[in-house]
Amino acid sequence: MFDPIVPNTDPNAQVHFTFDGESIYTAPNTSVAAALLAAGHTWFRQMPVSGRQRGPFCMMGTCFDCLVEIDGITVQACVTTVTEGLNVTRVPQMHLQEGKFK
Ligand code: FES
Repeated sequence: MFDPIVPNTDPNAQVHFTFDGESIYTAPNTSVAAALLAAGHTWFRQMPVSGRQRGPFCMMGTCFDCLVEIDGITVQACVTTVTEGLNVTRVPQMHLQEGKFK
């Protein structure tokens, strides 16, 4: 679905993080959204009222459809760079209803 402009072929130059407990490896300086899409994850949160699944749309920090939770803080995945050991999860629906967002 998404191919990097310059493919990372060096297996030692990868960053590891988890998404809902799944181990994911990606190239350094990749956004969380791009890394998750490349790993096959197309939705990151659900609409607070309807429960419909939402995933990245704009990839530039405008639509807020890419919200994820990292260490208990809700952030936009498309403007957050992956760093080693990040613990990324889908945002619990109740957090969105309560307006918890940084
Ligand atoms: S994809 Fe639109 S804000 Fe992240």
